[in-house]
Amino acid sequence: METNGKPTSPVISVLGLGHVGLPTALGFAELGCEVIGADDDASKVAVLKSGKLTFFEPGLGPLLTKHLESGRFRLTDKVGEAIRESQVIFVCVGTPQKDDGAADLSQVETVARTIAQNLNSYKLVVSKSTVPAITGRWIKRTIARYAENYRRAASTQHPPTEFFDFDVASNPEFLQEGKAVENIFHPDRVVIGVESDRAREILEDIYKPLKCPIVVVKISTAELVKHAANAFLSTKISFINMVADLCETVGADVGEVAKGLGLDPRIGGQFLQAGIGFGGYCFPKDLRAFIHLGEENGVDCGILKEVERVNLRRPKVFVKKIQKALWVVKGKTIAVWGLAFKPDTDDIREAPSLKIVEELLAEGACLRLYDPQAMANVQRVFPESAEQITYCNSACEAARGAEALLLLTEWSEFKEVDLARVHDVMEVPVLIDGRNFIDPQVAIAAGFEYHSVGREGVDRPVPGFTQR
Ligand code: UGA
Repeated sequence: METNGKPTSPVISVLGLGHVGLPTALGFAELGCEVIGADDDASKVAVLKSGKLTFFEPGLGPLLTKHLESGRFRLTDKVGEAIRESQVIFVCVGTPQKDDGAADLSQVETVARTIAQNLNSYKLVVSKSTVPAITGRWIKRTIARYAENYRRAASTQHPPTEFFDFDVASNPEFLQEGKAVENIFHPDRVVIGVESDRAREILEDIYKPLKCPIVVVKISTAELVKHAANAFLSTKISFINMVADLCETVGADVGEVAKGLGLDPRIGGQFLQAGIGFGGYCFPKDLRAFIHLGEENGVDCGILKEVERVNLRRPKVFVKKIQKALWVVKGKTIAVWGLAFKPDTDDIREAPSLKIVEELLAEGACLRLYDPQAMANVQRVFPESAEQITYCNSACEAARGAEALLLLTEWSEFKEVDLARVHDVMEVPVLIDGRNFIDPQVAIAAGFEYHSVGREGVDRPVPGFTQR
């Protein structure tokens, strides 16, 4: 993706260096652009300047090192300076959730005002953050309003301040945590929402090396595509989780149902993995923001409310399964494999595993927790306690002495663990797989009583199973 090491595009700044901003910035650097990464969190910038990541993301560390060295990626905590030095500004700040479910756009507004204050040449302001479908209009209005204010205030000076033009665009990001680097360089599509040819040409030029379909639409359309995509994917997950519950009542296998469904290209096989529900910073929050947008505008979003309702129940449904398998939970030692909201990340925001941990602690269970990357983050929520919570250094260590083992995140290393060894260190070999990740036959052959989601009828306890 390099162009002989020479930057060929306009200078880009990326404002906000989180899970979206940092991969985006480094992706542009890899494509040959000169990129300034800016974040007003000085401590985050200091860590990144030292070549270290502030979160776990496979493949991102080497890109950071490479482009700090190549000089194509610079870092600053002075957002205004980054704006002044760049022509294209990608806004990747957070859009957290307010109490009523709406997106809190205050960080986006602050950035728009900072841009207005630093409008020293033509700028293309591109929103990458997931925002409701009118935000582009507000960014434009805010920059125009405040730029005019700053210009008027400065016009007493000599020479009078010039007015510079700007464009606003929307270019939603579709990357998945844990796969960010792969997604950045091999996107299914790039969606660009613009209202001028100049903006379209600049963005098409930046994305040309990716050789994927570029969908050019109106700004509000681009914004809606992102929210609709996340809402639709969430819907698929809640749908298959509902089917999983039905499968358990009739003795069907949800994995096979999903396969049979997914081979129909109109449905597609992805995001039909039943389990403990979806989590993370995006789906739960974006779903609520989308529902809120609908309600504000008098549109019936009941279908999405059901998607959310089904998802909120998933951890409880799983805890019921645990209770059914163990009879009494109080005082039992339970091992937990996986805490992150999905594999290949240390992110635990809205992770269903945490709700399950919380319920089991309330029930009086003693937990032995293990996750390959997320334990430091979980420890801040559930500190180690002599009575109920032990953090362990390996999957096998967590299983030691346990009367049940829960698999809550499908980290690939759990497939490589020798289950016969795990069986031998457990007090009672019960495995409850919340992600249908372990092959039931392998678990049963290793001596486990195996339970999973949406295929209970097919996961019979191993004949002749004996408690140690
Ligand atoms: C999601 C979208 O997939 C991205 O396209 C989007 O860019 C991103 O949100 C965002 O808005 O920034 P992400 O939250 O990183 O990406 O993770 P996903 O891989 O989508 O998984 C979300 C949750 O759904 C996880 O808890 C995962 O375990 C769960 N999931 C996913 C299922 O339970 N079943 C499935 O079949 C797939």
